[in-house]
Amino acid sequence: MALSDKEKALMPQHIAIIMDGNGRWAKKRGLPRTAGHKAGGETFRTIANYCRSIGVKYLSVYAFSTENWKRSQEEIGALMILLERYLAEGLRDMEKNKVCFRFFGDLSRLNPRLRKLCLQAQERSADYHEVQVNFCLNYGGRDEIVRAAKAFAADVAAGKRSADSLTEAEFENYLDSAGVPDPELVIRPSGEQRLSNFLPWQSAYSEFVFMDVLWPDFGPEDLDKAIEEYFRRNRRFGGV
Ligand code: FPP
Repeated sequence: MALSDKEKALMPQHIAIIMDGNGRWAKKRGLPRTAGHKAGGETFRTIANYCRSIGVKYLSVYAFSTENWKRSQEEIGALMILLERYLAEGLRDMEKNKVCFRFFGDLSRLNPRLRKLCLQAQERSADYHEVQVNFCLNYGGRDEIVRAAKAFAADVAAGKRSADSLTEAEFENYLDSAGVPDPELVIRPSGEQRLSNFLPWQSAYSEFVFMDVLWPDFGPEDLDKAIEEYFRRNRRFGGV
C-alpha cells in the first residue's frame, strides 16, 4: 500500500478483526466447515505478515469465542488442532519472526496441551516488539469484564485497593488487554454487522468497517480498503 506522510502518521497502530465466514466459504465449495477454518488460518498468517509489513503494531483476532463451545465436537477439535499447530510453529520460529503473542480470554477451559503452548508462547515472546498478535481464545467481552471485576473485588477485599477511587484507567489494568492500546479500527468481514461480544470495552471509540468478503477470501487488498475507509473517517472522540 502506497501511503502519504499524513497517512503514515494516521496509520492505526491496533487493528482488531472478527475472522468470520469460514463456514459459508466451505459450504459454497461443498467442503466441510473445518476446511473453511483451515483456509481461515492461512488467511490469518497472510494478514499478520502484511500488518507487520505496513507497520501495524497490534493485531487482535477473534479465534474462539465463549459461545463457540456450542459447535460440534468435530469442529471444536479441528479449531484447537489448527491453533496448536500454529503456536507450535510460532514457538519454533520465534527468533526469526519476533512476533509477540498475547492471549485474551479464559484459558482455563482449553485442553492442557493448548493452554501450555499459549503460556509458553506468551512468556517466550514477551520481549519481541515487531508486531503483537492478541489471540482472543475462549474470549467473550462480558466474561472478560466480569473476570476483571472479580479480580478488582478480590484486591479490595485484601485491602490493596479502595473501591471508591476506582477509575477507568485503573480498571483497564484488570482486563486481559492490560497495557495494550485500544484498537482504532475493528474489521468484520462476511457481511455480518455486529460486534458479537468482541472487545466491547476496548472498542468504545473504534471505527468499525464491515465488509462483504468471507474471511478465507480476505486479502491484503481488503485490509488496504478497510484502512482507506478508516482514513476517510473523522474521529472526534465525543468532541466537535
Ligand atoms: C467464524 O467463522 C470463525 C471462527 C469461529 C473461528 C476462527 C478461527 C480461524 C480463522 C482459524 C484460527 C487458526 C489460526 C491459525 C489463527 P464461522 O465458522 O462462524 O463462519 P460462518 O459464519 O460462515 O459459519
